[in-house]
Amino acid sequence: MKKILTANISGGTKISGYEALKKTLSMRPEEVAFMVERSGLRGRGGGGFPAGLKWKFLPQNSRGTIYLICNADEGEPGTFKDRHIMEFDPHLLIEGMVIAAYAVGAKQGFIYLRGEYGWIAKFLPKAIDEAVREGLLGDNILGSGFSFYIDVFRGAGSYVCGEETALIESLEGKPGRPRLRPPFPGTNGLYGKPTLVHNVTTFSCIPFIIQNGPDAFKAASSTGRGGTKLFSISGHVNKPGLYEYPMGTSLRELIYEAAGGIKGGKELKAVIPGGLSTPILRADEIDVSMDFDTLAAVKTMLGSGGIIVMDETVSIPRVAQKAARFYAHESCGQCAPCREGTAMIKLLLDRMVNGQGEQDDLDQVMRLCRYINGSTICAFGYAVSLPIAAMIRKFRNEFEALLENR
Ligand SMILES: Cc1cc2nc3c(=O)[nH]c(=O)nc-3n(C[C@H](O)[C@H](O)[C@H](O)COP(=O)(O)O)c2cc1C
Repeated sequence: MKKILTANISGGTKISGYEALKKTLSMRPEEVAFMVERSGLRGRGGGGFPAGLKWKFLPQNSRGTIYLICNADEGEPGTFKDRHIMEFDPHLLIEGMVIAAYAVGAKQGFIYLRGEYGWIAKFLPKAIDEAVREGLLGDNILGSGFSFYIDVFRGAGSYVCGEETALIESLEGKPGRPRLRPPFPGTNGLYGKPTLVHNVTTFSCIPFIIQNGPDAFKAASSTGRGGTKLFSISGHVNKPGLYEYPMGTSLRELIYEAAGGIKGGKELKAVIPGGLSTPILRADEIDVSMDFDTLAAVKTMLGSGGIIVMDETVSIPRVAQKAARFYAHESCGQCAPCREGTAMIKLLLDRMVNGQGEQDDLDQVMRLCRYINGSTICAFGYAVSLPIAAMIRKFRNEFEALLENR
């Protein structure tokens, strides 16, 4: 690991416990929000939306209820960064949430925890209790007059509940189905109140920004935009794991230096750069800077930073089939294009991989991807159609070979 942003993850010294909170409480809320805006922090949940701008959508200087939600659902296949923060540095997250709450005027926060993270559900409340005991959370934080409370809510293992409006529905005790937007959570969120939703890692960047200043955060990236980034690297590499590197580090460096290159001396075939829902890159496309804008320019996404590395032995049609099975299973069923489209794509890919495909099947999958794209309430539709279409576009010969050799 190179640059240091978070405390225990990188064993760094640039940030010490709750110092940023102490500094925060000596500032006016709008000054804190301005620092976050100037840092250029972009959401780490997948979309990369600028945090400072999101905070502006909330009512300013309001005396009404504002909720804060930490999205710890972490359902994107290939992603394991949030669990690390919650396991090894929960106080970093708590501190980030308290600072954000102070800046936006929230009194109540929730951590929506992935259902499968049972062991974290056991000790996260203990960390919260520790913070309360030390006067860093709860009533009258550090004698400032500001009070903020956090509760942990455990999800039930649904991928779509990571989508912020489905998450809010689930938190309200309803089936986790995305809401039609607008209105957005910033004005109509939990129980109809203004709500700020951020990913675990986004909140965890905030103490560094407050303690070291927005310019230090920008300088921690190799592009001058956006701090460091946690990359979960899995698949056919020698050293799979979680790596904190400057935002903008090249994908090649992450695979060959951080993760020690391809296992068994094999050739690299393809990489999914930001979690399963981001379009695949071929081996000749890895000289790319891992930041939001550069990846968007090459028609993929930084997403959650979950890098899945595949060697020469991998069959891309089988990867597409597995992805389709996952999405067909996880579609909440609310929108017909997603419900029917994912089921149909799964069926077509299943029969192609099983050697029973029809000549038109490949074009049919591409048509379905186009049809799902943009016609669903939430971005789940893009999460299915963009990566599967990219696999077919970039590795079409492998799919065609299955049809020819049926
Ligand atoms: C299908 C789907 C699943 C999602 N899953 C997650 C998730 O597990 N964790 C997360 O932080 N964001 C997830 N998101 C993004 C959230 O809707 C939201 O944009 C994010 O929590 C905002 O936090 P940020 O501003 O820190 O990025 C998902 C979005 C979609 C469409």
